[in-house]
Amino acid sequence: MCGIIGFVGEEQAAPIILSSLENLEYRGYDSAGIATISDGKICLKKDVGHLEEVQQKHHLDELPGVLGIGHVRWATHGGVTANNAHPHLDCSGNIAVVHNGIIENYRELRSRLKSKHNFISQTDTEVIPHLLEDYLNDGASLEEGVIRVTKQLQGSYAFVAIYSREPGKIVAARQGNSLIVGLADGRKFIASDSLSFLKMTDQAIFVEDGEIVVATKDKVRFFNQDSLELEKSPGKIDWKWDEATKQGYDSFTLKEILEEPETARRALMQDKNLVMDMALGILRARQVVFIGCGTSRYAALLGRYVFSKFGGGFSPVIIASEYPYFSESIDSNTLVMAVSQSGETADILEAVRAAKRKSATIFSIVNRVDSSLARMSNKVLYLNCGPEIGVVATKSFVAQLIIFYLLGFAIGNKLDEGLDKLAAAPSWIAGNHRENGKGLIKLAWKLRKRKDFYYIARGTNFHIAGEAALKLKEIAYVHADGMPAGELKHGSLALIEKGTPVIAICPEDYTFHETLSNVEEAKARGAFVIGVSDRREDVFDKWIKIPKVEEIFYPLVSIVPLQLFAYHSAIARGLDPDKPRNLAKSVTVK
Ligand code: M6R
Repeated sequence: MCGIIGFVGEEQAAPIILSSLENLEYRGYDSAGIATISDGKICLKKDVGHLEEVQQKHHLDELPGVLGIGHVRWATHGGVTANNAHPHLDCSGNIAVVHNGIIENYRELRSRLKSKHNFISQTDTEVIPHLLEDYLNDGASLEEGVIRVTKQLQGSYAFVAIYSREPGKIVAARQGNSLIVGLADGRKFIASDSLSFLKMTDQAIFVEDGEIVVATKDKVRFFNQDSLELEKSPGKIDWKWDEATKQGYDSFTLKEILEEPETARRALMQDKNLVMDMALGILRARQVVFIGCGTSRYAALLGRYVFSKFGGGFSPVIIASEYPYFSESIDSNTLVMAVSQSGETADILEAVRAAKRKSATIFSIVNRVDSSLARMSNKVLYLNCGPEIGVVATKSFVAQLIIFYLLGFAIGNKLDEGLDKLAAAPSWIAGNHRENGKGLIKLAWKLRKRKDFYYIARGTNFHIAGEAALKLKEIAYVHADGMPAGELKHGSLALIEKGTPVIAICPEDYTFHETLSNVEEAKARGAFVIGVSDRREDVFDKWIKIPKVEEIFYPLVSIVPLQLFAYHSAIARGLDPDKPRNLAKSVTVK
């Protein structure tokens, strides 16, 4: 799960590649590198660290030449070392490759190649330039070589290759990982994500699995693995490039949390016929199965509750990576509801591919219009929340909840009623930001030395406990458990001691009194109790006030201050909320 970019044009390539990589850094930021071609030679600089650090140390943008490739890495095979950073070279130093994905058979390929080739990294990627080297030495062109290489590779990949003896050309291939071509006069891009070139062009062509792309500054050609040329036409990317900038905020994470009132408004802007159509599909299916990972899975858990409340029946929520172990139960009468911000999460794509093989119908809830998941689905509702760059999902979760509410109301044949009620959601959220802003900063600083947090709740609010704990783990690097309040006494209560923070999500709904009893149990063992509620209680050491709303909507208003709390906790601990260690936004490996 890395970001890759290839560029060919008329001006210096390196500054353009560097600026493209800045917009891909959400995909990986443990090392970075660029290779260009100049005077018939590959010029390469790469190192460990965030892109900015590598740039400061090596001046990547000064590499000469009008063509090049770049990479930001999230390590899978081989540690975070300069040798493992991309681009990777062949033995002669004439071929350079950047890759996203996993070459599953790299061990076999490497042991076959190693008697003739000198490997300097531990990565799976390095087999690609060495395989290419053999084919190009046999007289193949770069594109012929790439086609032959793809026949050797198992696993998933999107890679871009350059060759110093064919200096006007970049060649790329895709199998399982996203790849998009950007087109402008005299400039061509091949990248993991259109955000990388959106500032320069909104004209793009999606590369599909099994396709090979050959780009020169004036032309892009597509081939299949039988070397047959394919006809493809460009489309327009709808996002605006400046949506993917910080716009004056200190971090993307804060910007995205504060955008949530607008997010809610945009998520409500759905085609009513499509929503009704999907609701009918849900009602008609023999079974509905949700799949998602991380935050998207928590949204699906709420979706399950909403569907059940409005008459859609009980639906299992399967963590996408666990899908294979349940796949026997999927058939042509199954409706799979896939939930994903990026639409590129490998576990989800793999599960959806498997479900399609069983002839299941796929509905999805996705943010990225250009994503693989959107293109694989029978019907899609889009989150419409614009680019989410912060590694932690925040505004996309709010949009996912809104869409599940809409689908729930549609299932109950009350879509208009749902739209009317949810029209107030932007002001609930904006009020929540205003009300809690300062108090949450103080609370985060007060608790900044604490290493264990327990989030407890019941019913639908329990999923918010899970999601809020995930936020804190991700950006504040703190152990946090989100658990059903009633479970505390079955074991975890043993961990509560004087001052242990227990965050109870207990709006005044059907869960209120029982959750409060569990809060009392924790308090009696010395817990520092933070109550997230519309009703103040003496047992709370700190009250996070949420607005009074209809019961079903409490999850929507409870998560907002808890996202902010996680954000301020990261700041109070001196951490970068946008780039949490070991993580990346788009998990495109299994
Ligand atoms: O793009 P997706 O919604 O499919 O991503 C799923 C998870 O990887 C994602 O939600 C992850 O857990 C986030 N970092 C959560 O903040």
